Amino acid sequence: MLAGKRILLIVGGGIAAYKALDLIRRLRERGAAVTPVLTEAGARFVTPLSLAALAGQKVYRDLFDLTDEAEMGHIRLSRSADLIVVAPATADLMARMAAGLAGDLATTLLLATDARVMLAPAMNVRMWRHPATQRNLASLRADGVLTVGPGEGEMACGEVGPGRMAEPAEIVAAVEAALGGGPLAGRHVLVTSGPTHEPIDPVRYIANRSSGAQGAALARALADLGARVTFVTGPAAVPPPQGVAVVRIETAAEMLAAVEAALPAEAAVFAAAVADWRVAEAAAEKMKKDRSGTPPALTLVENPDILARVAGRSTGRPALVVGFAAETRDVLAHALDKRARKGCDWIVANDVSPRSGIMGGAENAVTLITGEGAEVWPRLPKDEVARRLAARIAAHLGSAG
Ligand code: CTP
Repeated sequence: MLAGKRILLIVGGGIAAYKALDLIRRLRERGAAVTPVLTEAGARFVTPLSLAALAGQKVYRDLFDLTDEAEMGHIRLSRSADLIVVAPATADLMARMAAGLAGDLATTLLLATDARVMLAPAMNVRMWRHPATQRNLASLRADGVLTVGPGEGEMACGEVGPGRMAEPAEIVAAVEAALGGGPLAGRHVLVTSGPTHEPIDPVRYIANRSSGAQGAALARALADLGARVTFVTGPAAVPPPQGVAVVRIETAAEMLAAVEAALPAEAAVFAAAVADWRVAEAAAEKMKKDRSGTPPALTLVENPDILARVAGRSTGRPALVVGFAAETRDVLAHALDKRARKGCDWIVANDVSPRSGIMGGAENAVTLITGEGAEVWPRLPKDEVARRLAARIAAHLGSAG
C-alpha cells in the first residue's frame, strides 16, 4: 500500500504517455497522492485535463508560471514528494537529466529535488541501445536514480526489442518497493554472483564463462521486493543492478571474506560460479616462456566452498541458504547430491552444457530443489527466473516470520 505517500509524476513526450493515466489511477487506488507534471512534449500525447481529472490535482507545466510560483515554488514542489517518477522517460529527458540541464519545469524539479527519482524509460529500441543513451543511463544510475523497465516486445514504431515502457502494474510494484512496501522490506539478503578470477601471475588468471546475468537479475528482483541486498560479485560481464550494495571481489578467498563480512542476513543466495581451484602460489612476476619449450606446471589447490561454509555455520546461519548447481549432465542427481553435501536449504539446478545455450545466454531452465522435492520450471528469461525465485524467497521468509 502507498497510503499517505506523495508522488510527483513527470510525464515526458512519448507514445507511452497514455499509460501514465492508468499509472495515476493505480497509484491513487493504493492510497498515494499523485501530482502530475507535464512536459511540453508530453502535452502532445496526453491532455492536461485528463491528467488533472485522474490525479484529482492541478497539473504543473510551466517553470515561469507565476501563479504556480506563488502557490508552490518549484523547490518546494520538488521536495514535497516521497518519490519522483518519470514515466515515460524519453531518451531526450534522460540525456538532459544526465547533463544536469534545467531548461524546463521537469528538469528543474529533477535537479532541485532531494527525493528519490525513478525512471520508466520508453523509446525506440535503437535509441535505447545507442551508446549515448546507455552512457546517460549509467550516469543516472551512478547518481542513485532508480529505473523500472524498459520491457521487450513490439513497439508502436513496429520494431521489436527493449524500449517499451514498463507496464503500469510493474511501475507500481517498483514504487512500492522503493517506498519500503515490498514483502522483503527490512530483510537483508546476500547474493553472490559472477565468476571469480584466480591469478596465475600478474597478467594471467583462471576463470569461467559465467556472465553474472542470473545473479544480477536475482539481486534486482530481491531489491524490487524491498530487500536490502548485498551483492558480492566477481568480474562479471553484466553490470550490477542499481539499488543494491555492491562489493566487488576477484578471487574466491576475497569472496568468502566479503560474504562473511556481510553477514548476518536472513537469506543468502549463492549464484556465483566460484573457481573450484586456485594456483597454489601465483607468480609475483609475469611468467616467461622456458627456452627449452617446457610448459610450466601449475599446482592447483582447492578453494574454500563459500556456500558450504555459510550453510554449515552453527551461529549466524541465514534462515534460508540457496545454492546453484551448474551441471553439464545428470543435472537432477548431481543437484540432489550437492544439496545434501553442502547443507543448503534449496538448490537451483541448471544445465550449463554448451547445447543448452544457457551459460552467457538470456534464458535459463532451472529445477528448484527444496526440502519438499524437485520442481521443474519451464525455460524462461533469466529476469523471470529471478522474479519467481525472489517471490519464493519472500514467501518462505514471510511464512518463517
Ligand atoms: N560454491 C561456492 N564456493 C565454491 C564453489 C561453489 O560458494 N568454492 C557455490 C556456488 O556458488 C553454487 C554452488 O556452490 O551455489 C555449486 O557450485 P558448483 O560449482 O556447481 O559445485 P561444485 O562445488 O563445484 O561441485 P562439483 O565440483 O561437483 O560441480
